[in-house]
Amino acid sequence: MNQTNNKYALILGCSSGFGAATALRLAREGYKIFGVHLDRKATMYKVEELLHELHHHGSDPVFFNVNAADARKRRDIVEKVRETIPEDGYLKVFLHSLAFGTLKQFIIEEQELAMTKSNMEMTLDVMAHSLVYWVQELFWAKLLGFGSRIFAMTSYGSHHVVPYYGAVSAAKAALESHIRQLAMELAPIGATANAIRAGVTNTPALQKIPAHAKMVHAAVERNPGRRLTTPEDVASALTALTSDDCQWINGDVISVDNGESVVDYIK
Ligand SMILES: NC(=O)c1ccc[n+]([C@@H]2O[C@H](COP(=O)([O-])OP(=O)(O)OC[C@H]3O[C@@H](n4cnc5c(N)ncnc54)[C@H](O)[C@@H]3O)[C@@H](O)[C@H]2O)c1
Repeated sequence: MNQTNNKYALILGCSSGFGAATALRLAREGYKIFGVHLDRKATMYKVEELLHELHHHGSDPVFFNVNAADARKRRDIVEKVRETIPEDGYLKVFLHSLAFGTLKQFIIEEQELAMTKSNMEMTLDVMAHSLVYWVQELFWAKLLGFGSRIFAMTSYGSHHVVPYYGAVSAAKAALESHIRQLAMELAPIGATANAIRAGVTNTPALQKIPAHAKMVHAAVERNPGRRLTTPEDVASALTALTSDDCQWINGDVISVDNGESVVDYIK
């Protein structure tokens, strides 16, 4: 199959933020979207709106409202995706954009408020290690091939300290490491894997970080564009990186933040 016509995307975290913006952008480019999300009743109306818009773009989306870290659910979904895509087809895009971490301090007088082993393990499992398990499953189902693009959302926290963000920071550092390993191990089939380091973006995940108001202020101060990154900025960059011309960009951490992470402050 011509890789340019292989327009199938699987997005983990498809219902909000970067995942939703990328789903919409790729649908406009003619992709069929498979999506995984975890939403309760209160936010389902947003999912319905998104599905409606995706249908409008002719994407015929298939969404699964499940925990992406559940091994059995993962296998079922991969099987369903395999059944839907023609035998000689595979995914052009696999995006890991899950926000599901515990935000607590490691060191605090009140022991009951401190990060626990299970908090830490859950955060690392969902936000980092699940990338590897999904990619393994997709590889075994022959859903990855020449020109497939794997992306995982990382952040400034992978190498900087942010209050309450210790477990997520560890997950981001692990995620970037997993991306490098996957890039090397998938090179023989011509699939690429890159981490996308987005600038601070106003999404539900950001709003859960206790220090988010200060983070927003600092990001706008540092960003040469004098504004926050938007999910659409990231979706545009991801779409550009799916080009066949980007085949040689592999195993990297690519900043999509207009220089926010390399600037201390602007005069
Ligand atoms: N917002 C930022 O400033 C920022 C910056 C850099 C990187 N990131 C990273 O980008 C990724 C996406 O964040 P966002 O800001 O778009 O968040 P968001 O809250 O807007 O979206 C998170 C998505 O993940 C889904 N999800 C969460 N837990 C899940 C689970 N266990 N199983 C299935 N789906 C699940 C939600 O349903 C939702 O679709 C995260 O990894 C985050 O750390 C965010």
